[in-house]
Amino acid sequence: MEGASSASDAPQDADLHDLQPHIDAALERITVDGIRSVVVRSIHDCHFSVSIADPQLPDIPLVAVSEGFCELTGYDRETILGQNCRFLNEGREIKSSDREGMRISAKTGKHFCGVLNNLKADGTPFLNLLDMRGLSVGCTAAGEERFFIIGIQADVSEQGSADLPLEHKMQMQHIANVIRDELMASLQQVAIVTAEGSAAAGVLGGVLGNITPYEDPKWILGEALENQMNFLGG
Ligand SMILES: Cc1cc2nc3c(=O)[nH]c(=O)nc-3n(C[C@H](O)[C@H](O)[C@H](O)COP(=O)(O)O)c2cc1C
Repeated sequence: MEGASSASDAPQDADLHDLQPHIDAALERITVDGIRSVVVRSIHDCHFSVSIADPQLPDIPLVAVSEGFCELTGYDRETILGQNCRFLNEGREIKSSDREGMRISAKTGKHFCGVLNNLKADGTPFLNLLDMRGLSVGCTAAGEERFFIIGIQADVSEQGSADLPLEHKMQMQHIANVIRDELMASLQQVAIVTAEGSAAAGVLGGVLGNITPYEDPKWILGEALENQMNFLGG
């Protein structure tokens, strides 16, 4: 499921706060995809969440999060919007390759996927499977690609270790792809509204104004790290 795909079947409503039902619907679809039942059951026990960050704003802050993100992390939306998502890993041991992958992904929109040591708002440690990719929603008046970073998180603490079995990693990756595609149209609407809001508020001196939206938004291709496929290779 690499690369651009059509948003024509995706829901059209624009409010990210309403995304949870679409995530649930995506998970229902997965059940009939022929995934082995034991894996499905443990995946269904995970709490998936969606987060959006704006790479054109200083320090790439979160601009929207789903209800599931707040449930997963224990943070209120008001507390975290406008902040870089690193608050989840501060003080935790993060592999240098993962950190580099996240930084590259956040800047370029290239794909990153990894299992991270994160902390909830109440200080509880958890294993967070993070899948990040950029969604290009249109072109600015200056002819530049306008994209946002979409993060999908899942609590995989029950696995007990960041080294998930290969099959489980691949299923999680598959689910992240399905959720992303399922949510694409809604995400595009939110992204454009957010960008226009930033322009109207004078952020970046109005550089974001006059976005010409793509008919179909496009996922940014490529891996943040050349050896990213090692994640899927165990
Ligand atoms: C949309 C989005 C979601 C992210 N979600 C998480 C997350 O759930 N957990 C995490 O540890 N880092 C997450 N990050 C990564 C951090 O924001 C940051 O890129 C990472 O900590 C590396 O940068 P730093 O070394 O400057 O902190 C996310 C980034 C983006 C853009």
